[in-house]
Amino acid sequence: MNNFSFYNPTKIIFGKGEIAKLDRLIPKTAKILLIYGSGSIKKNGVYEQVKSALGKRKVTEFAGVEPNPFYETCLDALTIIKQKKIDFLLPVGGGSVIDATKFIAAAALYEGKDSWDILEKQVEIKDAMPFGTVLTLPATGSEMNKGAVITKSETKEKLAFHSDKCFPVFSILDPETTYSLPKRQVTNGIVDTFVHVIEQYCTYSVRNQLSDRFAESILITLLEEGSKVGKNPTDYDIKANLMWAATMALNGLIACGQPQDWATHSIGHELTAFYDLDHGVTLSIVLPGVLRIMKKDKLDKLAQLATRVWGYTEGSRAERADKAILAIERFFRTVGAPTHLSDVNLDASCIDPIIERFEQRGWKLGEKGNITPNKVREILMNRL
Ligand code: NZQ
Ligand code: ZN
Repeated sequence: MNNFSFYNPTKIIFGKGEIAKLDRLIPKTAKILLIYGSGSIKKNGVYEQVKSALGKRKVTEFAGVEPNPFYETCLDALTIIKQKKIDFLLPVGGGSVIDATKFIAAAALYEGKDSWDILEKQVEIKDAMPFGTVLTLPATGSEMNKGAVITKSETKEKLAFHSDKCFPVFSILDPETTYSLPKRQVTNGIVDTFVHVIEQYCTYSVRNQLSDRFAESILITLLEEGSKVGKNPTDYDIKANLMWAATMALNGLIACGQPQDWATHSIGHELTAFYDLDHGVTLSIVLPGVLRIMKKDKLDKLAQLATRVWGYTEGSRAERADKAILAIERFFRTVGAPTHLSDVNLDASCIDPIIERFEQRGWKLGEKGNITPNKVREILMNRL
């Protein structure tokens, strides 16, 4: 097992009707910036619940955070924070709204000249404004982690940053808020959660039994509940299980002592940046390619996955690894996710700009740092 440190200060409040607890979680004197997206919270009753829980507190609204949030949009929020002397941020929405808030929280107290340095130069965040979240889309785990992904629309760069200062103080997870999700976003959430687990599991074995079993339990939950949710979009327990699975998949727990990959995410972020695909869509397309092209390096874990999650006990490790990859693709299709670039109307011409970018950055992807730009090309060619 690898060495690790584990830190997670976010308080989780989970369940029906729990948005009302905002009243106890935020100081009465707080000057709040309520941050949200394009308005889904106004159609599904979440906005009213939040406003009613906040009572007489001073609230300024900042709407219009887009999916795959823009740096430029976050800068607009900074101006309002100064004008209104805001001291607490409250994102209500999915990963995009929460990620934008994390960046805003860090940038608001950043002393350097250009806050893009937080993403491009990965400068250390010394402090950030406090924020709590109300999650409406289980997928990213952003509600209980310290990472955020922001896009500069001007240059089409989608970059991540991480900081211990950017954990939410609290996150409220009410599964009922997810009843209004369109099927496409439910699918995105299942795929994102699934791929988060695989990125932290499907590497090489370090005999880390507990973290492996935690990861497998999340995958099994996703397979079971994910296949039922399509026909039961307002079944509380299905939604609750999916929501908790998404949070647990990327709050640091299953990463403890494990090597990690994240190549699928890095390649996926470029597909989103260049071709505006949903995050989940990029992952269901790229993951099977990463697993196939890097199969030799991942053989033990793929075979273990096949046996423990799908019950395939027959055959060699290589045969079981192939079965696991096929089973993953089958599951993605069952929940309505695309698995090839052609499914989203992209062809081989989409690949060059992505390879160029990895060449410029000099990033070495994968748990062994051996996914070179040429390998990225092989991976994407596998997904045509
Ligand atoms: O704009 P609103 O009104 O909020 O509508 C959103 C948006 O159109 C809608 N939606 C959310 N909750 C809803 C709802 N519609 C109806 N009912 C509800 N209850 O869904 C659409 C997509 O929302 P978005 O927040 O973009 O989706 P998601 O949660 O998948 O977030 C994706 C972003 O998170 C980043 C991704 O790269 C992407 O930018 N990620 C963040 C991570 C992190 N912070 O740890 C890790 C992830 O791997 C990921 O990279
Ligand atoms: Zn993700």
